[in-house]
Amino acid sequence: MSVWEALVELDRAQPRLGEQLTCALREAIVAGRLTPGTRLPSTRDLAADLGLSRGLVVSAYEQLIAEGRLVGRRGSGTQVAPGAAAAPGDGVVAAAPAPSVAPLRPGVPDLGMFPRAAWRRSYERALATAHDADLDYGDPAGSPVLRRELAAYLGRVRAARLDAAALVVTTGAAQAFTLLAAVLRAAGTGRVAVEDPGPAAIRDLLTTHGLRPVPVPVDADGLDVAALPRARARAVLVTPAHQFPTGVVLAPARRAALVDWARRTGGLIVEDDYDAEFRYDREPVGCLQGLAPDVVALVGSVSKALAPGMRLGWLAPPTSLWEATAAAKFAADHGGPAVDQLAFAELLAGGWYDRHLRRARRVYRQRRDAVVAALRAHLPEARISGVAAGLHLVVELPAGVDDSALAARARAAGLGPLALSAQRQRGGRPGLVLGYAAHSPHELTAAVRLLGRLVRGEVARGDVVRGDVHEVAAGG
Ligand SMILES: Cc1ncc(COP(=O)(O)O)c(C=O)c1O
Repeated sequence: MSVWEALVELDRAQPRLGEQLTCALREAIVAGRLTPGTRLPSTRDLAADLGLSRGLVVSAYEQLIAEGRLVGRRGSGTQVAPGAAAAPGDGVVAAAPAPSVAPLRPGVPDLGMFPRAAWRRSYERALATAHDADLDYGDPAGSPVLRRELAAYLGRVRAARLDAAALVVTTGAAQAFTLLAAVLRAAGTGRVAVEDPGPAAIRDLLTTHGLRPVPVPVDADGLDVAALPRARARAVLVTPAHQFPTGVVLAPARRAALVDWARRTGGLIVEDDYDAEFRYDREPVGCLQGLAPDVVALVGSVSKALAPGMRLGWLAPPTSLWEATAAAKFAADHGGPAVDQLAFAELLAGGWYDRHLRRARRVYRQRRDAVVAALRAHLPEARISGVAAGLHLVVELPAGVDDSALAARARAAGLGPLALSAQRQRGGRPGLVLGYAAHSPHELTAAVRLLGRLVRGEVARGDVVRGDVHEVAAGG
């Protein structure tokens, strides 16, 4: 896929492709993804890249030149105009220069790929078709329309076994964990087993909500289920599809053993399915909930698939916990935003969510390949793992490296890796967790080159990444 295909999202099933192209380019300029001075391809090249007639591209450029967002100069082609983001247009509000995601920060998708056009269409349809009554306080468990679409999606894509009535729509996985914490506490459960290493942020959230996370080791097959009884916990939180941070998949025998533990002890498995949509080298592994809906609470969100700022997620608890979970959601906020939920239902029903994921998977796979190649070249001593899926990987560093100090130096230089030790409760090899979804192969390569220099202590004080990693990395 070309850069321009990734930047310009067109819905070929809809009419007015020329208008769609104009809107997509305008939005990219306003949002700062196309910055002043950026040279656009020739109309002939862009038309060929996008499979459009040249006339449509010429009209789009002319319209944006008329709006003052592009300038066309004989000899130097068409460029984004100075101050183009703030040009008086057709009601598009100019954004302030956006703070950018630090290269290599894990846990964030490419926010520039958010399917704005599809979301706008879904939102408009939701508003146009919602009944007045849909705008009242609704079912605190979420819009029935969205729950129906989500149940179908999770059944089809994640092999979940649930029906719409079993779902609670949440404001992200974080809220799903807080609801479960309330339910577990009320049932007298204080200890929850967690993976070690595991996501520190989620561990902190559980602690804040009154639970005590007890570490259980993770190895190449995922959570060491044989060690689980020692945690003396009635619930366990796992990331089976792509363990955070190691990236391992919970092995089939471990899945069976975990379900067996839950059924024998009356325990609850909380399945955090957080980036399961992204699997590059083979088909996605189905969720654990599909194997054992009686003992698994499935948690997911759109934070990695679309954007964390959507604050949209879901929770499918076992039937025995449904009433208590729905009551906890009511107590938390009386229900989520109605129109957002209807718009998300439209996005799912129209096939846009699937389409976006297919596109994102292709782009992220290229980025994963680029970051792995750059690590082999610039950090050959690092052991790389967790590359088959997700939006991040782990590099283990030689024993004795202080990964927290290294991550702090990297942050000071404008990069965003996490220290592996910060995700651990007990000791282990040092390393870094590196995200790769949010940047181009070129930026990733430059960021890894800079990281290599940081590891070797070659970066001088004051070397920081300003906007473009490449400048600093290449300049030193
Ligand atoms: C392991 C893990 N699970 C889930 C999430 C998603 O949380 P939310 O849906 O609240 O954004 C994150 C966010 O970074 C995460 O690291």
